[in-house]
Amino acid sequence: MRHSAILFSAVAISIAGSQAVPKPGADGKYTISSSGIKAQFIPYGATLTNLFVKDKADKDVDVVLGYDVVDYYAKDPGHPVYNSIPGRYVNRIGHGKYSIDNVTYHTELNDGNNTLHSGTNNWSYRTWNVTAATDTSITFSISDASNSSLNMLGRVEARVTYSVDNGSWSIKMDATSPERKTPLMLTQHTYFNLDAYRNPDTDKIWNHSLYLPYSKRYLEADDGALPTGNVLTAAPGSINDFASQPNFLLGHAKDQPGFSGNCGAGGACEGYNGYWPIENAPTDAVVATLASSFSGIKAELRTDQAGLVVYSCNWFDGTSALKKTQGLSDRHTVGRSSCVALEAQDWVDGINQ
Ligand SMILES: *[C@@H]1O[C@H](CO)[C@@H](O)[C@H](O)[C@H]1NC(C)=O
Ligand SMILES: *[C@@H]1O[C@H](CO)[C@@H](O)[C@H](O)[C@H]1NC(C)=O
Ligand SMILES: *[C@@H]1O[C@H](CO)[C@@H](O)[C@H](O)[C@H]1NC(C)=O
Ligand SMILES: *[C@@H]1O[C@H](CO)[C@@H](O)[C@H](O)[C@H]1NC(C)=O
Ligand SMILES: *[C@@H]1O[C@H](CO)[C@@H](O)[C@H](O)[C@H]1NC(C)=O
Ligand SMILES: *[C@@H]1O[C@H](CO)[C@@H](O)[C@H](O)[C@H]1NC(C)=O
Ligand SMILES: *[C@@H]1O[C@H](CO)[C@@H](O)[C@H](O)[C@H]1NC(C)=O
Repeated sequence: MRHSAILFSAVAISIAGSQAVPKPGADGKYTISSSGIKAQFIPYGATLTNLFVKDKADKDVDVVLGYDVVDYYAKDPGHPVYNSIPGRYVNRIGHGKYSIDNVTYHTELNDGNNTLHSGTNNWSYRTWNVTAATDTSITFSISDASNSSLNMLGRVEARVTYSVDNGSWSIKMDATSPERKTPLMLTQHTYFNLDAYRNPDTDKIWNHSLYLPYSKRYLEADDGALPTGNVLTAAPGSINDFASQPNFLLGHAKDQPGFSGNCGAGGACEGYNGYWPIENAPTDAVVATLASSFSGIKAELRTDQAGLVVYSCNWFDGTSALKKTQGLSDRHTVGRSSCVALEAQDWVDGINQ
């Protein structure tokens, strides 16, 4: 079982919970809520569509990306895996192959030289079943047939339960493969902007702070975002350092040489799309803190996963619309480097390392 919880707090805390009944509303979303937090979901991809928390003025802020029209999640040609559960093996499988018990299996090359999110029929493109719901929690289930993604063999049964409690959002994922050994690795792939794109001075994510106290090391990656096998230590103040002090902004190194190509693609990917192992963290420690001084919202992540992918949204180009809960009168789209995905997961390409 893998478990993550993100606790949100603002400078001013208030208790103002509404007891919504968790059934799909007219807009097709399931709503769960507790004091200071309200989350909405759809079965497509087991996706979080909206996450409202309180800002420093006690106003509700929708801190995650998404669409207003639920049908659009399945139609969006860009499909950024918005706030969903990719699977059965997230992130990259290097060179589209893995071995189990001395047999090598070839998977679909759908991301350059590699397999991304298992290839075709990955779980973020599937409509999951709702198998339990209360006013504070909802469970989605998926039964994934053998070989539904090329050479991902053996049926897998998986569930995710999302729940909210007093300003925190909890994610429990489990998956079993009753028939045979198969690659399994899950994450929850949510994109954040803690200002809901309402900071008039900037829509970039660079002014959010990020602290990864147990992640001095990170995985070196090649141009295709595949780990090379080298685990590097970030020198204090260097581009990939978020451990040496608690107040680094995500853009702390944006003027350093190398930042504009730090996430590969032959120098075209600015910022972050890498993996930081979480090392020597006490049980239940806060392993990541994302905060914005503009909204006063702070998100603290606790997880039993082995590390964290940080992706600073380089590949957004202003064509995706913001929700009506976000943006300004002159800001309606998701610009480059304007959000951050924090994905607690096991080591990228761990099946081959
Ligand atoms: C895999 O191959 C190695 C070396 O040939 C052998 O020692 C081992 O028993 C094999 N494992 C399995 C599960 O077949
Ligand atoms: C995931 O599955 C869908 C539907 O089969 C496919 O169109 C897509 O290319 C797959 N891969 C990724 C990385 O999304
Ligand atoms: C949902 O449940 C039905 C009935 O048990 C099953 O046929 C279907 O495959 C399930 N869908 C998923 C995505 O697992
Ligand atoms: C998996 O599906 C592919 C076609 O997508 C097929 O060629 C292959 O034989 C299948 N493998 C198994 C073990 O069924
Ligand atoms: C709710 O969370 C706040 C902020 O973390 C904390 O101060 C308060 O004690 C919590 N209330 C309950 C009932 O747990
Ligand atoms: C960024 O945050 C700092 C404080 O952390 C603040 O002084 C500055 O005005 C902010 N800049 C923008 C563009 O919001
Ligand atoms: C893909 O592999 C080829 C051959 O090994 C290599 O030349 C190319 O640079 C790789 N592409 C990426 C994006 O890593």
